[in-house]
Amino acid sequence: MKSPQFFQIHHDNADKVRLELIHGLTANAAPGGAEISPKFLYDALGSRLFEAITELPEYYPTRTEAAIFRAHGPAMAQQMPRGADFIDLGAGNCAKAASLFATLAPARYIAVDISVDFLRAGLESLQRQYPDMDLVGVGLDFSQSLDLPPQLGEPNAGPRVCFYPGSSIGNFTPAQAQVFLRQVRSACGAAPGSGLLIGVDLLKDAAELQAAYDDALGVTAAFNRNLVPNVNRLIGSDMRLGDWTHYAHFNSDASRIEMHLVAQRDLTVQWPGGSRSFGQGERIHTENSYKWTVPGFSDLLCSAGFGKPQVWTDAASPEDGRFAVLWAPST
Ligand code: AVI
Repeated sequence: MKSPQFFQIHHDNADKVRLELIHGLTANAAPGGAEISPKFLYDALGSRLFEAITELPEYYPTRTEAAIFRAHGPAMAQQMPRGADFIDLGAGNCAKAASLFATLAPARYIAVDISVDFLRAGLESLQRQYPDMDLVGVGLDFSQSLDLPPQLGEPNAGPRVCFYPGSSIGNFTPAQAQVFLRQVRSACGAAPGSGLLIGVDLLKDAAELQAAYDDALGVTAAFNRNLVPNVNRLIGSDMRLGDWTHYAHFNSDASRIEMHLVAQRDLTVQWPGGSRSFGQGERIHTENSYKWTVPGFSDLLCSAGFGKPQVWTDAASPEDGRFAVLWAPST
Protein backbone atom coordinates (compact mmCIF):
# COMPACT_ATOMS: atom_id res chain seq x y z
CA MET A 1 0.00 0.00 0.00
CA LYS A 2 1.25 3.53 -0.84
CA SER A 3 1.46 6.29 1.81
CA PRO A 4 0.16 9.85 1.46
CA GLN A 5 2.80 12.56 1.00
CA PHE A 6 2.47 15.86 2.89
CA PHE A 7 3.79 19.39 2.24
CA GLN A 8 3.15 22.24 4.69
CA ILE A 9 3.68 25.53 2.83
CA HIS A 10 1.64 27.92 5.00
CA HIS A 11 2.91 28.85 8.47
CA ASP A 12 0.81 30.91 10.86
CA ASN A 13 2.41 34.22 11.62
CA ALA A 14 0.92 35.49 14.91
CA ASP A 15 2.17 39.09 14.36
CA LYS A 16 0.66 39.29 10.88
CA VAL A 17 -2.66 37.92 12.15
CA ARG A 18 -2.65 40.45 15.01
CA LEU A 19 -1.91 43.37 12.68
CA GLU A 20 -4.61 42.30 10.23
CA LEU A 21 -7.24 41.98 12.97
CA ILE A 22 -6.36 45.30 14.62
CA HIS A 23 -6.32 47.05 11.25
CA GLY A 24 -9.83 45.70 10.54
CA LEU A 25 -11.18 46.55 13.99
CA THR A 26 -9.89 50.12 13.86
CA ALA A 27 -11.03 50.82 10.28
CA ASN A 28 -13.49 53.68 10.40
CA ALA A 29 -13.96 54.95 6.91
CA ALA A 30 -17.40 54.65 5.35
CA PRO A 31 -18.78 52.61 3.70
CA GLY A 32 -16.82 49.67 5.10
CA GLY A 33 -16.37 50.48 8.78
CA ALA A 34 -14.86 47.89 11.09
CA GLU A 35 -14.35 44.43 9.66
CA ILE A 36 -13.03 41.00 10.58
CA SER A 37 -12.02 38.68 7.74
CA PRO A 38 -14.30 35.61 7.43
CA LYS A 39 -11.23 33.36 7.60
CA PHE A 40 -11.28 33.93 11.38
CA LEU A 41 -14.70 32.23 11.56
CA TYR A 42 -12.98 28.86 11.18
CA ASP A 43 -11.25 28.05 14.45
CA ALA A 44 -11.87 24.51 15.78
CA LEU A 45 -15.34 25.38 17.15
CA GLY A 46 -16.21 27.58 14.16
CA SER A 47 -15.41 24.74 11.76
CA ARG A 48 -17.76 22.46 13.69
CA LEU A 49 -20.46 25.13 13.73
CA PHE A 50 -20.11 25.45 9.96
CA GLU A 51 -20.58 21.68 9.62
CA ALA A 52 -23.75 22.03 11.71
CA ILE A 53 -24.95 24.87 9.44
CA THR A 54 -24.73 22.55 6.44
CA GLU A 55 -27.33 20.31 8.09
CA LEU A 56 -29.84 23.06 8.88
CA PRO A 57 -33.15 22.94 7.01
CA GLU A 58 -32.72 26.60 5.95
CA TYR A 59 -29.16 26.18 4.60
CA TYR A 60 -29.89 24.71 1.16
CA PRO A 61 -26.47 25.07 -0.63
CA THR A 62 -24.67 21.95 0.66
CA ARG A 63 -27.51 19.51 0.11
CA THR A 64 -28.51 21.09 -3.21
CA GLU A 65 -24.96 20.77 -4.52
CA ALA A 66 -24.78 17.15 -3.33
CA ALA A 67 -28.05 16.40 -5.16
CA ILE A 68 -26.62 17.94 -8.37
CA PHE A 69 -23.54 15.69 -8.11
CA ARG A 70 -25.74 12.63 -7.53
CA ALA A 71 -28.05 13.43 -10.44
CA HIS A 72 -25.43 14.58 -12.96
CA GLY A 73 -22.18 12.90 -11.86
CA PRO A 74 -22.06 10.59 -14.93
CA ALA A 75 -22.75 13.52 -17.33
CA MET A 76 -20.02 15.54 -15.63
CA ALA A 77 -17.58 12.65 -15.85
CA GLN A 78 -18.12 12.50 -19.62
CA GLN A 79 -16.76 16.03 -19.92
CA MET A 80 -13.74 15.46 -17.69
CA PRO A 81 -10.56 13.46 -18.24
CA ARG A 82 -10.05 10.13 -16.48
CA GLY A 83 -6.66 9.44 -14.92
CA ALA A 84 -6.02 13.13 -14.17
CA ASP A 85 -4.42 14.89 -11.23
CA PHE A 86 -7.41 15.85 -9.10
CA ILE A 87 -6.63 19.05 -7.13
CA ASP A 88 -9.13 19.65 -4.32
CA LEU A 89 -9.08 23.27 -3.06
CA GLY A 90 -10.27 23.45 0.56
CA ALA A 91 -10.44 19.66 0.87
CA GLY A 92 -11.20 19.37 4.62
CA ASN A 93 -12.17 15.74 5.27
CA CYS A 94 -11.82 14.96 1.51
CA ALA A 95 -15.35 13.46 1.45
CA LYS A 96 -16.79 15.50 -1.45
CA ALA A 97 -13.88 14.72 -3.74
CA ALA A 98 -13.80 11.05 -2.75
CA SER A 99 -17.44 10.68 -3.80
CA LEU A 100 -16.27 11.49 -7.38
CA PHE A 101 -13.36 9.02 -7.46
CA ALA A 102 -15.47 6.18 -8.87
CA THR A 103 -16.52 8.27 -11.89
CA LEU A 104 -13.28 10.22 -12.42
CA ALA A 105 -10.71 7.56 -11.54
CA PRO A 106 -7.96 10.13 -10.85
CA ALA A 107 -4.32 9.02 -11.09
CA ARG A 108 -3.36 11.30 -8.22
CA TYR A 109 -5.42 13.14 -5.62
CA ILE A 110 -3.93 16.41 -4.30
CA ALA A 111 -5.84 17.74 -1.28
CA VAL A 112 -5.14 21.40 -0.42
CA ASP A 113 -6.19 23.08 2.83
CA ILE A 114 -4.73 25.67 5.13
CA SER A 115 -3.15 23.03 7.37
CA VAL A 116 -2.04 19.48 6.55
CA ASP A 117 -3.32 18.57 10.02
CA PHE A 118 -6.88 18.96 8.66
CA LEU A 119 -5.99 16.53 5.85
CA ARG A 120 -4.11 13.74 7.62
CA ALA A 121 -7.04 11.67 8.89
CA GLY A 122 -9.01 11.99 5.64
CA LEU A 123 -6.06 11.05 3.42
CA GLU A 124 -4.95 8.14 5.61
CA SER A 125 -8.44 6.67 5.52
CA LEU A 126 -8.67 7.24 1.73
CA GLN A 127 -5.33 5.46 1.26
CA ARG A 128 -6.79 2.34 2.90
CA GLN A 129 -9.67 2.43 0.39
CA TYR A 130 -7.44 3.29 -2.60
CA PRO A 131 -4.11 1.60 -1.77
CA ASP A 132 -2.63 2.22 -5.26
CA MET A 133 -3.61 5.87 -5.69
CA ASP A 134 -1.02 8.62 -5.16
CA LEU A 135 -2.39 10.88 -2.41
CA VAL A 136 -0.86 14.23 -1.52
CA GLY A 137 -1.79 16.72 1.23
CA VAL A 138 -0.72 20.36 0.82
CA GLY A 139 -1.04 22.90 3.67
CA LEU A 140 -1.44 26.20 1.83
CA ASP A 141 -3.44 29.41 2.31
CA PHE A 142 -4.56 29.49 -1.31
CA SER A 143 -6.78 32.53 -0.69
CA GLN A 144 -3.49 34.47 -0.59
CA SER A 145 -1.73 32.77 -3.47
CA LEU A 146 -2.16 29.39 -5.15
CA ASP A 147 1.48 28.33 -5.35
CA LEU A 148 1.54 24.54 -5.41
CA PRO A 149 4.83 22.88 -4.40
CA PRO A 150 7.14 22.32 -7.41
CA GLN A 151 7.53 18.67 -6.32
CA LEU A 152 4.02 18.12 -7.78
CA GLY A 153 5.42 18.65 -11.27
CA GLU A 154 4.67 20.92 -14.21
CA PRO A 155 1.02 22.01 -14.60
CA ASN A 156 1.14 21.13 -18.31
CA ALA A 157 2.63 17.63 -17.83
CA GLY A 158 -0.78 15.91 -17.90
CA PRO A 159 -4.48 16.60 -17.41
CA ARG A 160 -5.47 18.34 -14.21
CA VAL A 161 -8.95 18.72 -12.71
CA CYS A 162 -9.21 21.50 -10.13
CA PHE A 163 -12.18 21.16 -7.76
CA TYR A 164 -13.67 24.04 -5.77
CA PRO A 165 -17.10 23.03 -4.46
CA GLY A 166 -19.36 24.50 -1.77
CA SER A 167 -19.70 28.00 -3.25
CA SER A 168 -16.71 29.20 -1.26
CA ILE A 169 -16.01 31.40 -4.31
CA GLY A 170 -18.97 33.47 -3.04
CA ASN A 171 -16.90 34.59 -0.05
CA PHE A 172 -14.59 36.52 -2.41
CA THR A 173 -15.59 39.88 -3.90
CA PRO A 174 -16.02 39.64 -7.69
CA ALA A 175 -12.61 41.33 -8.17
CA GLN A 176 -10.91 38.92 -5.74
CA ALA A 177 -12.74 35.99 -7.36
CA GLN A 178 -11.35 36.95 -10.76
CA VAL A 179 -7.77 37.13 -9.40
CA PHE A 180 -8.22 33.78 -7.64
CA LEU A 181 -9.74 32.08 -10.70
CA ARG A 182 -6.82 33.27 -12.85
CA GLN A 183 -4.48 31.53 -10.41
CA VAL A 184 -6.65 28.40 -10.57
CA ARG A 185 -6.46 28.58 -14.37
CA SER A 186 -2.63 28.57 -14.15
CA ALA A 187 -2.66 25.70 -11.64
CA CYS A 188 -4.95 23.68 -13.97
CA GLY A 189 -2.39 23.98 -16.76
CA ALA A 190 -3.14 23.61 -20.43
CA ALA A 191 -2.87 19.86 -21.04
CA PRO A 192 -5.84 18.65 -23.11
CA GLY A 193 -8.87 17.87 -20.93
CA SER A 194 -7.82 20.03 -17.96
CA GLY A 195 -10.30 22.34 -16.26
CA LEU A 196 -12.14 23.46 -13.14
CA LEU A 197 -15.21 21.89 -11.52
CA ILE A 198 -16.79 24.51 -9.27
CA GLY A 199 -19.96 24.93 -7.18
CA VAL A 200 -21.69 28.33 -7.11
CA ASP A 201 -24.69 29.55 -5.16
CA LEU A 202 -27.23 31.34 -7.36
CA LEU A 203 -29.18 34.53 -6.86
CA LYS A 204 -32.66 33.85 -5.53
CA ASP A 205 -35.52 35.18 -3.45
CA ALA A 206 -34.19 37.44 -0.66
CA ALA A 207 -36.33 35.78 2.03
CA GLU A 208 -34.85 32.35 1.27
CA LEU A 209 -31.33 33.78 1.38
CA GLN A 210 -32.05 35.65 4.59
CA ALA A 211 -33.34 32.48 6.31
CA ALA A 212 -30.28 30.49 5.19
CA TYR A 213 -27.99 32.99 6.97
CA ASP A 214 -30.22 33.65 10.00
CA ASP A 215 -31.64 30.23 10.89
CA ALA A 216 -34.30 29.72 13.51
CA LEU A 217 -32.05 27.58 15.73
CA GLY A 218 -29.38 30.28 15.89
CA VAL A 219 -26.49 28.13 14.64
CA THR A 220 -25.37 30.78 12.11
CA ALA A 221 -25.62 33.39 14.87
CA ALA A 222 -23.34 31.22 17.04
CA PHE A 223 -20.94 30.73 14.07
CA ASN A 224 -20.71 34.53 13.63
CA ARG A 225 -20.57 35.38 17.37
CA ASN A 226 -17.83 32.79 17.91
CA LEU A 227 -15.57 35.45 16.36
CA VAL A 228 -15.75 37.29 19.70
CA PRO A 229 -13.82 34.69 21.77
CA ASN A 230 -11.63 33.86 18.78
CA VAL A 231 -10.53 37.49 18.27
CA ASN A 232 -9.96 37.81 22.05
CA ARG A 233 -7.70 34.75 21.89
CA LEU A 234 -5.76 36.06 18.88
CA ILE A 235 -5.15 39.68 19.99
CA GLY A 236 -5.79 39.58 23.76
CA SER A 237 -8.85 41.85 23.49
CA ASP A 238 -11.70 42.06 26.00
CA MET A 239 -14.81 41.77 23.79
CA ARG A 240 -17.79 40.39 25.73
CA LEU A 241 -19.99 37.86 24.01
CA GLY A 242 -23.15 39.35 25.51
CA ASP A 243 -22.40 42.72 23.88
CA TRP A 244 -22.57 41.43 20.30
CA THR A 245 -25.46 40.02 18.26
CA HIS A 246 -25.64 38.43 14.82
CA TYR A 247 -27.06 40.37 11.89
CA ALA A 248 -27.44 39.00 8.36
CA HIS A 249 -29.01 40.86 5.47
CA PHE A 250 -29.24 40.61 1.71
CA ASN A 251 -27.60 43.57 -0.03
CA SER A 252 -29.42 43.44 -3.36
CA ASP A 253 -27.30 46.17 -4.98
CA ALA A 254 -24.16 44.09 -4.44
CA SER A 255 -25.96 40.70 -4.83
CA ARG A 256 -24.55 39.43 -1.57
CA ILE A 257 -25.58 38.30 1.88
CA GLU A 258 -23.63 40.20 4.51
CA MET A 259 -22.99 39.06 8.07
CA HIS A 260 -22.21 41.59 10.79
CA LEU A 261 -21.74 41.69 14.55
CA VAL A 262 -23.79 44.50 16.13
CA ALA A 263 -22.79 46.27 19.37
CA GLN A 264 -25.67 46.13 21.87
CA ARG A 265 -24.50 49.16 23.87
CA ASP A 266 -21.89 51.93 23.71
CA LEU A 267 -18.64 50.14 24.51
CA THR A 268 -14.87 50.16 24.10
CA VAL A 269 -12.87 47.13 23.02
CA GLN A 270 -9.35 47.12 24.43
CA TRP A 271 -6.28 45.06 23.57
CA PRO A 272 -2.61 45.40 24.55
CA GLY A 273 -1.49 48.66 22.93
CA GLY A 274 -4.85 49.89 21.59
CA SER A 275 -8.62 50.24 21.75
CA ARG A 276 -11.68 51.06 19.64
CA SER A 277 -15.01 52.49 20.78
CA PHE A 278 -18.28 51.38 19.21
CA GLY A 279 -21.63 53.13 19.58
CA GLN A 280 -24.77 51.08 20.27
CA GLY A 281 -25.92 49.59 16.96
CA GLU A 282 -22.51 50.00 15.30
CA ARG A 283 -21.45 46.98 13.29
CA ILE A 284 -18.41 44.92 12.46
CA HIS A 285 -18.68 43.41 8.94
CA THR A 286 -17.67 39.74 9.16
CA GLU A 287 -18.59 38.03 5.86
CA ASN A 288 -19.88 38.53 2.33
CA SER A 289 -21.50 35.67 0.46
CA TYR A 290 -22.03 36.68 -3.16
CA LYS A 291 -24.85 35.12 -5.15
CA TRP A 292 -24.26 34.79 -8.88
CA THR A 293 -26.37 34.28 -11.99
CA VAL A 294 -25.27 31.52 -14.38
CA PRO A 295 -24.43 34.01 -17.19
CA GLY A 296 -22.60 36.30 -14.73
CA PHE A 297 -20.47 33.47 -13.35
CA SER A 298 -19.80 32.03 -16.83
CA ASP A 299 -18.50 35.45 -17.90
CA LEU A 300 -16.29 35.58 -14.80
CA LEU A 301 -14.78 32.18 -15.67
CA CYS A 302 -14.14 33.30 -19.25
CA SER A 303 -12.55 36.56 -18.05
CA ALA A 304 -10.21 34.44 -15.89
CA GLY A 305 -9.04 32.53 -18.97
CA PHE A 306 -11.30 29.45 -18.96
CA GLY A 307 -13.37 28.27 -21.93
CA LYS A 308 -17.18 28.41 -22.02
CA PRO A 309 -18.43 26.25 -19.11
CA GLN A 310 -20.90 23.37 -19.02
CA VAL A 311 -23.55 23.98 -16.34
CA TRP A 312 -25.66 21.67 -14.20
CA THR A 313 -28.26 22.95 -11.73
CA ASP A 314 -31.05 21.58 -9.59
CA ALA A 315 -33.71 22.79 -12.06
CA ALA A 316 -34.75 21.87 -15.58
CA SER A 317 -33.52 25.22 -16.91
CA PRO A 318 -30.39 26.85 -15.41
CA GLU A 319 -32.16 30.20 -14.82
CA ASP A 320 -34.46 28.50 -12.29
CA GLY A 321 -31.68 26.75 -10.38
CA ARG A 322 -30.82 27.49 -6.77
CA PHE A 323 -27.25 26.23 -7.10
CA ALA A 324 -24.99 25.46 -10.06
CA VAL A 325 -22.03 23.20 -10.70
CA LEU A 326 -19.90 24.30 -13.65
CA TRP A 327 -17.16 22.55 -15.60
CA ALA A 328 -14.89 25.16 -17.15
CA PRO A 329 -12.27 23.75 -19.55
CA SER A 330 -8.77 25.24 -19.40
CA THR A 331 -8.54 25.59 -23.15
C1 AVI B 1 -18.19 28.64 3.33
N1 AVI B 1 -19.19 29.50 2.71
C2 AVI B 1 -19.47 29.09 1.33
C3 AVI B 1 -20.41 29.68 3.52
C4 AVI B 1 -21.40 30.62 2.77
O1 AVI B 1 -22.53 30.21 2.58
O2 AVI B 1 -20.99 31.70 2.37
C5 AVI B 1 -20.11 30.24 4.89
C6 AVI B 1 -21.34 30.55 5.69
N2 AVI B 1 -21.59 31.66 6.31
C7 AVI B 1 -22.73 31.60 6.92
N3 AVI B 1 -23.28 30.45 6.68
C8 AVI B 1 -22.41 29.74 5.92
